[in-house]
Amino acid sequence: MNFRELGHTCVMGMQWGDEGKGKIVDLMVSDFDVVVRYAGGANAGHTIVVGDERFALHQLPSGIIRPQVTSVIGPGTVIDPAVLLGEITSLRDRGVDIGENLKISDRAHLVFPYHRRSDVLTEQRARVGEKLGTTARGIGPCYADKYARHWAIRVCDLYPADRFRTRLAAVVAHKNAYLAGVHEVRETFDSERLAEEYLAFAEQLRPHVCNTTTLLYHLMREDKVVLFESAQGSLLDVDHGTYPYVTSSNSGGGGYATGAGVSPRAVQSVIGVLKAYATRVGSGPFPTELKDSVGDEIRERGHEYGTTTGRPRRCGWFDAVAGSYAAMFGGPTGLALMHLDTLTGMGEIKMCVVYKSGGAQTNEFPADAYQCEELQPVYETFAGWNDDVTECRRFADLPAAAQRYVRAIAERLETPIRMIGVGPSREQVIYLEEGEA
Ligand code: IMP
Repeated sequence: MNFRELGHTCVMGMQWGDEGKGKIVDLMVSDFDVVVRYAGGANAGHTIVVGDERFALHQLPSGIIRPQVTSVIGPGTVIDPAVLLGEITSLRDRGVDIGENLKISDRAHLVFPYHRRSDVLTEQRARVGEKLGTTARGIGPCYADKYARHWAIRVCDLYPADRFRTRLAAVVAHKNAYLAGVHEVRETFDSERLAEEYLAFAEQLRPHVCNTTTLLYHLMREDKVVLFESAQGSLLDVDHGTYPYVTSSNSGGGGYATGAGVSPRAVQSVIGVLKAYATRVGSGPFPTELKDSVGDEIRERGHEYGTTTGRPRRCGWFDAVAGSYAAMFGGPTGLALMHLDTLTGMGEIKMCVVYKSGGAQTNEFPADAYQCEELQPVYETFAGWNDDVTECRRFADLPAAAQRYVRAIAERLETPIRMIGVGPSREQVIYLEEGEA
């Protein structure tokens, strides 16, 4: 399949993250000229393969291992320069060429150690049940500063050095007062030391920093084709997800337009990525969660442990109500259904098709997280299959029961399925013909 035919395309997670976006982006990216990360920061994690080695990227777009593709870190992201530069160094050590092909928005916000510190301390102080289960990467505190504006520092603020030092001194004084007053932290941050550290980062980042909004505009006018790579998933979107158990950026819906700095009319295709079941890391409502041996079995079969934190992921059945909700504000033109092989040999398979709430049935995904916790999933049960699917390369090769299950997902989400993941490797994908599912 030549993905270029899709035009400018966004690859978006439709559940609570970890849907397998990295694999889809990896398959697609060499057909594109540009790949843009547009939301989130070092909380994201996707595993890439360089030679015989697999390793996790948190800040860099997945396209980075292909030097002919321009990789852009957009204005909607938050950048932890220590993590970013660490990733650049380790890729260079493995022979990956990173130079002109990496562009970093001068408008992106910077994560500082005080953000990570307050992320951890706020979680520690929160009462059980109110902990968000964050990745502790300082994401929430950095985005909070962005929206509050007074204490935010963007990439462009690193230059010139004197102005940065003055600005950082004021911000650090405020942060130290906050950490001491609210969290009783005694050892405070030294703004001079922090300034020197970040000014060294600034010099290493400098060759990559530019106005990526103008860059993308011109590249798109030159008919370069752009892939927008989301982080996390639609149900973790700060506006539309299971608030407050969400991340702090627009990881679903139209986040690519604001986060990348392109016109909302620019994107021609949206590939919604879903797992054939559901997972979530951290706290928050998860109506189809299986807190039993079936959930454990999915976790072990699907290797469901976090890329960023190593935490075991919560596992459950596919939730078509939540999926339809994500599709409603995300507008996928096609779906990639991942991990179908994980369900082989599981016996009967269930899919949530409606919720029961207070005795009545509803297809509404509630705003209130507490109400969401109370939902009872109503399941449709599907026959499972035992035949190995990992060698299937055409839809017709799949066992009939698997085909029925896949078609049911397409029907429920009113969106055609374009790809099915049947194993971890790049080759283990089924590309569907129009009308197959
Ligand atoms: P934060 O983004 O670190 O603030 O974490 C907020 C919530 O989003 C927590 O439940 C995290 O587990 C979740 N989260 C953040 N990034 C990812 C991701 O890449 N995959 C899955 N969950 C994520």
